[in-house]
This record gives sequence, structure tokens and C-alpha cells, in this order.
Amino acid sequence: MNSIKFDYSHICNFVKKEEISALFPEAKNALESLKNGSCKGNDFLGWLDLPTRIGIAELNDIENTARELRARTNVVVVIGIGGSYLGARAVIEALADSFHNFGDAGMKVIFAGHNIGEDYYHELMNYLSDKEFGICVISKSGTTTEPAIAFRLLKEMLEAKVGKAEAGKRIVAITDASKGALRTLADQEGYKSFVIPDNVGGRFSVLTPVGLLPIAIAGFDIKALVKGAVEMQKECLEKQGSIALEYAAARTALHRKGYAVELLANFNPKLHYITEWWKQLYGESEGKEHKGIFPAGVDFTTDLHSMGQYIQQGPRMMMETVISVENSQYKVEIPADEANLDKLNFLAGKRVDAVNKMAELGTRIAHVDGGVPNMLVSMPALNAEYIGQLFYFFELACGISGSMSGVNPFDQPGVEAYKNNMFALLDKPGYEAASKEIKARLK
Ligand code: PA5
Repeated sequence: MNSIKFDYSHICNFVKKEEISALFPEAKNALESLKNGSCKGNDFLGWLDLPTRIGIAELNDIENTARELRARTNVVVVIGIGGSYLGARAVIEALADSFHNFGDAGMKVIFAGHNIGEDYYHELMNYLSDKEFGICVISKSGTTTEPAIAFRLLKEMLEAKVGKAEAGKRIVAITDASKGALRTLADQEGYKSFVIPDNVGGRFSVLTPVGLLPIAIAGFDIKALVKGAVEMQKECLEKQGSIALEYAAARTALHRKGYAVELLANFNPKLHYITEWWKQLYGESEGKEHKGIFPAGVDFTTDLHSMGQYIQQGPRMMMETVISVENSQYKVEIPADEANLDKLNFLAGKRVDAVNKMAELGTRIAHVDGGVPNMLVSMPALNAEYIGQLFYFFELACGISGSMSGVNPFDQPGVEAYKNNMFALLDKPGYEAASKEIKARLK
């Protein structure tokens, strides 16, 4: 099978091979605890065999719903935040044309509910005012404030524009089977809806309708995405060793040596939101009990001109994982220029990607020389199948790494702190005591 690959040979100046190998039994135990359900957070393990559990009927239902929505609209606003947002955006931005933001179906998918920016909503509603738009609203809990505000604004706008009956046909909800305000709303209004399985947490939900419906609306191949994830699931769960085990063991070995930050670096601007997805996956899964590698992201070569200096010569606390796309989709050659005033003729006839690859290699060597251990994830090409492989690889390695550090990788108790303060400050019913207390602190 053509597959993504993982190479950790360039961390061996920083941590001995034997030290990494010594962690394999621990990584294997962690994997076993995920497989047999004895790990912490074992009520959220539905993602582990999700790729092989997704049925063709479910995929067809998602594709048909996407087709119907596309037939009624030319813009779909996907409303969601965190795990109910980043996976879909990661795939769509990776596969869409950089300048038109069109999916394969000529459909524009845009995002809301991932911020509370008043100007953002003003501009969004202004943009939508002359568009035939639809809404895909996603919230597992069905009670998250950011998407709820966005949905209230856009639902009202859509109903005023096309009438309640037509609006009802242009709205699809993805939420819990029975709990939460969004489920109540969807059932009462009769929206088409999809269920997020109870045992799949937000940041592990990209291969449920949460990720698959928006990706299908954009016109990309969700069956290929799932196929890639199935391939990686089989590779990692049915064989003895796997790249997920290697990655988990390598980054844990480095972390235990004091490397507290992991930079996920790409050399392809289309991977920006894959990095954002990865940051959420690892940040929310590992950062608890005062433990965890800090996940940071850089887009190269862009950020070599901003963060490059710090990475090369700042405090030595970073490890780096580069995602490398081996083959670009299109060919662009650098032309020769007779006058050569820009002194660039040494590149004449070379493909832009060949220059990018040398930037990548040069950077990796420089960072290793500068004291940044380097790991490499290579993808043969940027397509749905390899992205499916990548998602499963990172999810599994995350479950293994988090379990190795002793935390529950599948909860996120820390995100409640800001919400409690916000609700208290906004006088939400039920928060009276907290409201009094926080307001007293502000005096
Ligand atoms: O990973 C998670 O569980 C979170 O990031 C959630 O996805 C995020 O908070 C959104 O939650 P919900 O889907 O309930 O609106």
C-alpha cells in the first residue's frame, strides 16, 4: 500500500536509539490499554475502529444530503468550533483551490461559530445578503455558546430571506442523538440531522458526519478519506509495530529529556489547517495535570522569516515534526531571464517544488545542527486518501502518547474555566453566585 511514512532517525543526536527502543514496551502497553478499553477515558474510544465501522449507507446518506444542499444553495456556512470545526476546515483548505476556495463541486463552504467577533458577523451577514446560502450547524453538546450565537444570527437571516419552510430544507444539524439544545431545535424544526456517536469526542470526530458532511458539501471524496483511515487503522492495529507507536515513543522520549514544545512544521500553505487540527488534538488531549508537550505550528517557508530565528537560536526546548508532501499536484517552472537582473538564473528551468524541497532539506539540517531534534512525516501527495491516513496516524499516536503520560487524553476539563467566568460575567441564569464573586474581584 502507498502510505504516509515516519522517520525519526534525526532525533538520535538528542536521545539515544536505545532510550527510544526502551519506550516501545510502554507505548505498546498504552496501545493495548486503548484496544482493550482499560485506559483512562475509556468511554470515548469510539474513534479507534471508527474507519472500519462507517458503513456505505451512512456515507451515501452524507453524500446525498450534501448533493441536496448544493442543489438549493451556492454557499454553505459551516457553524462549529474546536473539534466540531477544525477537521472539516483542514481537509477543505488542503484540497481546495487556494484562490477560489471552491470545492470540486464549485461550492463555496465558509465557516462561522468559531469566534465571537462582532465585525466578523457583520461582514459575514453582509456577504451572505445576496447569496443563496444554507447552514450546516455542528455541536456535539448542542450548548456551546459560539456556534449557538452564530446559528441564531444566521437562522433568523435565512428565514427572513427565503421563508421558514425553505430555510428548514437548507439547514442540516449534526449533534447528539438525544441531548442538548441543538437536538431539541433540530427535532422541533424538522431539520435533516446526523448524530455524533456518544463515544467519539469532538477532536476525534473528523471521520463522523462532523467532518464528512462539510467535506462532502465542498465536493471532496469522503470515501477516499475514509479509505485512507481504514488503511492506517489496519496498519496500526493489526500489525505488531507501527508508525503511530514510533511517533508516540519518539516524542515521549524527547519530552522526558526536557523538550517541552513540539513544532509541527509544513512546507505547503495548504496544510495550515491540518496543523490547527493537530494542535487542538494534542493540546486538548495532553495538556492537563500540569503535564503535556506544548503543540505549536509553523508554516514554512513563510514562518522561517518570522519564527525561524527563534527556532534556530532561541532556548533549546523544541522538537520539530515536519509534514512533507512528496509530490505537488501541478508543475510550475521558473523561467530563464536573459537580463538576469534578479540573479535568479541558477534556478531557471527548475520547478518551484524542487526549490521548496531544498528549502525543506536545508531547514531540517539547520535545525538539527542548531539543536532541534527533527522528525519527518511524509505524504506521497496531498489527497483525501493520504489525509485520511494522516488523521488516523495522529489520532492513534495521540491516544498512545497521552496514555503514556498518565493523563486521560479524552477529556478537557480545563476549557470550562473561561466559560464559567464568561457566563458569570454575562449573568447567565444559574451563575448568580459565581457572578457576584467575579464581579467583586473586579472592583
Ligand atoms: O474536542 C472537543 O471535545 C472540543 O474541542 C469540542 O469539539 C468543542 O468544544 C466544541 O464542542 P461542541 O461540539 O459540543 O460544540
